[in-house]
Amino acid sequence: MNDATRTVASVEQLEAPVIIGTEAYLSPDYARAERDRLWRKAWLQAGRIEDIAETGDFVTFDIHDDSIIIVREDAQTIRAFHNVCVHRGRKLVDTPPGQRNARGNRRSFICGFHGWSYGLDGNCTYIPHKEDWQGSLTDDRTRLSGVKCETWGGWLWINMDPESVSLDAWLGVVPEMLDPYQLHNMRARWRKWIVFDCNWKVAMEAFNETYHVATTHPEFNAFGQFRGWARIQGLHTHIGYEAPKGLEEDAGKMRTGTGADPRRSTAEMQMFTWENANTNTTMTLVNAAKRLIDELPEDTPASEVSRHWISTARADDERRGVVWPTVDPMHTAKAGTAWQIFPNFQIGHAVNNMLCYMARPWGNDPDRCIFEAAVYELYPEGEAPETRWEYTEPDNWPPVLQQDFANMAAVQQGMKSAGFKGTQPNPYMERSTASLHMNLAKFMGAGAPVARD
Ligand code: FES
Ligand SMILES: [Fe+2]
Repeated sequence: MNDATRTVASVEQLEAPVIIGTEAYLSPDYARAERDRLWRKAWLQAGRIEDIAETGDFVTFDIHDDSIIIVREDAQTIRAFHNVCVHRGRKLVDTPPGQRNARGNRRSFICGFHGWSYGLDGNCTYIPHKEDWQGSLTDDRTRLSGVKCETWGGWLWINMDPESVSLDAWLGVVPEMLDPYQLHNMRARWRKWIVFDCNWKVAMEAFNETYHVATTHPEFNAFGQFRGWARIQGLHTHIGYEAPKGLEEDAGKMRTGTGADPRRSTAEMQMFTWENANTNTTMTLVNAAKRLIDELPEDTPASEVSRHWISTARADDERRGVVWPTVDPMHTAKAGTAWQIFPNFQIGHAVNNMLCYMARPWGNDPDRCIFEAAVYELYPEGEAPETRWEYTEPDNWPPVLQQDFANMAAVQQGMKSAGFKGTQPNPYMERSTASLHMNLAKFMGAGAPVARD
């Protein structure tokens, strides 16, 4: 049998071992083709709604060769346009040097080259010496080129393909699984970005599985590890942990520690996580975990430690006006810890915080990408901090993320070795990677996983 006949195209086939060639990671031709076949076809997470709260607020979002302006026209309407002047193609809004994107408030967008002006609805409102065009500059020919924009989960999503399915159809089961967490109510605690010397898929695949945790982050082994899984949900995937019976809550991100004294290991795990990752927890959860040792007797079983910790943290937050949604433990077990939204966004959800990753190509260079991470939590009304995307060198990221970062360029370089035959994801714990490439192949027409003998 040749490789083509063993190409994997169904979810069931991904339960068995596959091998994935390096073309999707390394090929300049593949990276160029991604622009037309993937980035201009897919729904992409492009920003947060709270960043454009007032009329005239806008953000830009760049992907490969394209730049998009997303602007609030009024209280009800958000619009997106290609960030290009229709006169002679000057980029309409420049990104300030060193910034991730442009952001501001405008009543109109005025091109800096010759002064053509556009309203928040994209219509051209002023053209110097318009009569010179002898009546040929109709509204249709002068309005900004529109881009589809919808919202879900508190994010702005764009799609450059006028023929695309709706965002709802694209997301499939994702809203049903994540809406209970009310992610739209969360606000950023921090947001950082960086440029890596690796393909955007290498960056995303450093976070879409739990298989690496025991080795890349050995410190966490002291707190006990559950076995991780990865499941496929249409275009998307999610990952989580198998929790012991009666500890279904622990399948989510808020896990108690294991070992002889779960009070102590939970507190230690929370403090370690806060100090070294600054993700996946909140100060309220850390403080409630620190009190476990005083509030519970020594031989309290893990399930009771978990219930006490979560319920006291919930009550602490309620006292300051932060109300967590209530999610059924069985739903928590089903939803897992993080969702990979095809193609390049990951949401690590919980009832009171989330950790999100995104990676985008750096132009058409297969060897570089823009990587970003943001941590969100619930704040009392009006008390969310004002955050910006901060370009952050590796040394200034939380140490646990630095451990992940250390693998990026090394994987990209290693894949170029004459001795490397293709990536072999764990069929159970890294099925998310196999699924990503199966779905990418449907857009790209190349790079599908191949079944192992
Ligand atoms: S290119 Fe924008 S006004 Fe000329
Ligand atoms: Fe990691």
